[in-house]
Order: sequence, then structure tokens, then C-alpha cells
Amino acid sequence: MRPRSTARRALAAALALALLAFPALYGCAPQQQETAREDAVLLGFSQLGWESAWRIGNSLDIQEAAERAGVQLMFDNAQQKQENQIKAIRSFIAYQVDVIAFAPIVEHGWDTVLQEAKDAGIPVLLTDRLIVTDDPSLYVGYVGADFLEEGRKAGRFLIEKADREGLTDLKIVELSGTLSSSPMQQRGEGFRAVIEGDERFEIIETMSGDFLRSKGKECMESMLERHEKIDVLYSHNDAMTLGAIEAIEEAGLVPGEDIIIITVDGEQAAIDLLQEGKINCVVECTPMLGDIIMELAKKLAAGEEIPRVTNPEERAFTEFDEDLMDIPPRGY
Ligand code: AHR
Repeated sequence: MRPRSTARRALAAALALALLAFPALYGCAPQQQETAREDAVLLGFSQLGWESAWRIGNSLDIQEAAERAGVQLMFDNAQQKQENQIKAIRSFIAYQVDVIAFAPIVEHGWDTVLQEAKDAGIPVLLTDRLIVTDDPSLYVGYVGADFLEEGRKAGRFLIEKADREGLTDLKIVELSGTLSSSPMQQRGEGFRAVIEGDERFEIIETMSGDFLRSKGKECMESMLERHEKIDVLYSHNDAMTLGAIEAIEEAGLVPGEDIIIITVDGEQAAIDLLQEGKINCVVECTPMLGDIIMELAKKLAAGEEIPRVTNPEERAFTEFDEDLMDIPPRGY
């Protein structure tokens, strides 16, 4: 672990107290153990926002995992703004945390602040989402989903559905996530890679619903108005899907039957709708990354190497699963 001065520890403790007293200074009250051990690893974590049940589950899991692991956590919620994430990272550098972890809202625009962290000797771990940079040394590793594979799973399900039911001429609309975010890019790319060249499928429109339920509904309403025939909705997350399903039902259509619905995440509400037949496929993306993050943060603070990429195990839940009604509670 990098040597931490008593003054720095006092500063961190003072910061913790200030944040506890004025949580509005940060997007979310920080998680600090009441009696932090002198040698506890200090982890600064910048969460990108609160846009979905997935994200809330992810934040809670990280906070609980830090408690369990005895890691002192400075947790900031950036309220969906990249500039807030950059500010939070700068404050973590100023407080000389041992490790910085963050879930980058978009792929580009991190080089300057990450160079500052590197110059300060603080290792940076990407969680949940990836960045695009010419300098791979700006972060030490990534822990999160394989978004390309998630997109491929969605495409493979659609092919299986069409094969089993002899479906052709399927018009697809896509609700994509936050523009320029890595899940948005890669879930789209993986899906296309699988269905490309198969004449049964045509993507007729893609709209960004920003991973938000309200926007998912608005986008679906407008696509239903514009297109006479929509056979498939591929949505990059459950929150947008739930909004889109409201729009589909309000238009007098039956989700899961009139329109095949494929979604990503696996939150409880989506699994419930899969079991009711209103969703056909849920590609899992787990938000439960907390324990892995804490383990890696401890290794980094101890100066150990960590894997460049850590992907959790994930599956797809589909209407064809024999154990469809036995899916354990999702916890988010
Ligand atoms: O980056 C992961 C994505 O972000 C999840 O699929 C989504 O629900 C969240 O907003």
C-alpha cells in the first residue's frame, strides 16, 4: 500500500465527517465505516448516476461490499454528468486515496484527469463501462460485463426464435442506451454482428432512450407512430423496456406476442414480465460487482498486479428455458 501520512488520514476523516454532515455536497452520502481502521484501504468511487434499478442495485452492492471488506469508501454520484465524474476524480486525487474506481458515463474525454491520477501514483480501475483512450496505461483494469457478448446473445435469441417459429420479414426497432457509452456501442455492435446478412431481419430505426424508463416510453410511442409494422424491439436496458412496454400496451398491442421483446439487464421487473410472457428474452448484465471491486482494490493498494479484464459470469433468460419459472430472486 502507498504510505499514507497521519495528516492525510486526518484529512480523509475530516472529509468523511463533512460529507456525512452535508451529503448534498456529493450526489450520494458517502459510505464510511464509523470506526475506520488506520490501515484500511481508501477507495474513491465515482458512480455515474441513478438512471435505472440496475444502477441503484450496483451502488448499493458496492457500498455493502465495502462494509464487508473493511474498505473505506468515498462514494460520489455524478448525476449523469461527465463533468461531475471528472470533479470527483480530482477530489479523490486531492485526498490521496489509495485507489480510484469509476463507472465512466461515456467512452471519451478521460485522458487528462486520468493522467493526473497516474502522475499522483493512484491506480485507476474502470468498473461497469469502458473508455476509449490512446494510452492504455491510464487505467490498470476493467471489471464489468462483456457488452459485445450481451449484444450477440440478443441476436442469437432472435435467430433461435425465427428458426423455431419460421418467422421472416422481421422489422426491428432498437432502443439504444446513452449515446457514446460503451454498453450502447457494443450492445448494438454485437447484435448486428450476429444478424447481419440474414435477410429475415431489418433494423428499421434506432433511437437513444438514454437508459431511462421515461425516454424509453417516449421513443417507443414515436416509433409506433412512424412505423406501420414493428415486429421486434431490441432494447439496451430493462428500464427503457419497461417504458416501451407501457407505450406498446397503450397502443393496443400485446408485448411479447405482437412485438417480440428482447432486453438487457435482468432486473426483477423484467424477469416478472418474461414469466408473464410480455418479454421474450432477458440478457443478463449483473450489477453485483462490489465484492470483485473490493478484492481488486485491496490488491492494487498492496501494489499487486490485477487482471486487465474481469468479466462476471452472465447468462440469458428466455421464453424457451425449461427453468423459466424457477429463476431465483434477482435482488435488483
Ligand atoms: O452500464 C450498464 C448499463 O447502465 C445497464 O444496462 C443499465 O441499466 C445502466 O443504466
